[in-house]
Amino acid sequence: MAGENVISFSEIDSTNRFAVDNLDRLPSGTVVWALSQTKGYGRHKRVWHSSKGGLWFSIVFKPTLIREPNEYTKLASVAIVETLLQLDFKSVRIKWPNDVLVNGKKAAGILTEAVFAGSSLGAIVVGIGINVNNEMPDEIKQTGISLSTVKGNHISLESLLDRLLKRIEFLRKTYLIRGKSRYLTRRWKKHLAFGENDEITVSLREDERVTGIIKRITPSSLLIEQESGTVLEIKSGEVIL
Ligand code: BTN
Repeated sequence: MAGENVISFSEIDSTNRFAVDNLDRLPSGTVVWALSQTKGYGRHKRVWHSSKGGLWFSIVFKPTLIREPNEYTKLASVAIVETLLQLDFKSVRIKWPNDVLVNGKKAAGILTEAVFAGSSLGAIVVGIGINVNNEMPDEIKQTGISLSTVKGNHISLESLLDRLLKRIEFLRKTYLIRGKSRYLTRRWKKHLAFGENDEITVSLREDERVTGIIKRITPSSLLIEQESGTVLEIKSGEVIL
């Protein structure tokens, strides 16, 4: 179960890196937690600022049943949103695919890595970064936010981690190990910052943007109908809200 085995560091390069490099000796459910990371990274290999005060951890899953990495990312995003709502945060939404926004700014990000042993899936490492009591660096002040700024007080990392792990375990048991992931998708969709039939703009690369109406949302793709009638399937990109 997630959280029975927690390995903690005061500083590390990256908890995801550590988990991936040490998989052989980490049982399923192991949590790797660090107070700060010197080389935290996010999706598309972007630098993830991980100074002291934030919650930076990774969970190792060695699933036998549901082996789809996306399911674990979805699990983590729903768990983060529901935990924050429980703690009385308002305006908590998921920005597709899996960023968690509070008051329209990014408070948490998730990076899921599938690790293969030969051609078979060996493990899924889910890295979660939450801005809690850490200062936001100047370059992300416009788009990122710390939970303590929203609340106006210091938040305990231990108790937040504990709540999150319990929520993750509850959702995993309720949906994934019972083969009911479509209900988890329903829960995930409910928390999305936008829905089917909304108009959105997605930036694909440096200067390529697509605007259109959302026809279908899945955890791994968005179907967008442009004004011309063309329907595009987008698998990765940044949604501009
Ligand atoms: C993103 O939004 O691009 C995902 C960010 C994920 C950051 C977390 S912090 C803990 C774990 N270790 C890392 O190096 N990255 C993830």
